[in-house]
Amino acid sequence: GKPRFEPEPKPRVNKHLFKSDPLVTNRMTIHPSDGPLALCRCWESKKFPLCDGAHRAHNEKNKDNIGPVLICASDT
Ligand code: FES
Repeated sequence: GKPRFEPEPKPRVNKHLFKSDPLVTNRMTIHPSDGPLALCRCWESKKFPLCDGAHRAHNEKNKDNIGPVLICASDT
C-alpha cells in the first residue's frame, strides 16, 4: 500500500512560560491613570504578560512584525 506520513507537528508558540499550567491566562486590573498597558504577543517577554521590548529581537531574528497589544482605558 501507500506509505503513510504523520503530519509534522507545528512549532510551539509558547516555548518557556508557565509550562506546568494547562492553560496560560492572566487577569489584570487597570486604572485610567495607568496609561496604556502593553501586553506581550511574542511570548518572549521576561515580564510576561507585559511587553518588555523583547519582540524587537524576535522580529529581527525571524523577519516578523509582532508588537504588543496596547490597552487604553476609556475616558468615559
Ligand atoms: Fe512580546 Fe513586546 S515583548 S510583544
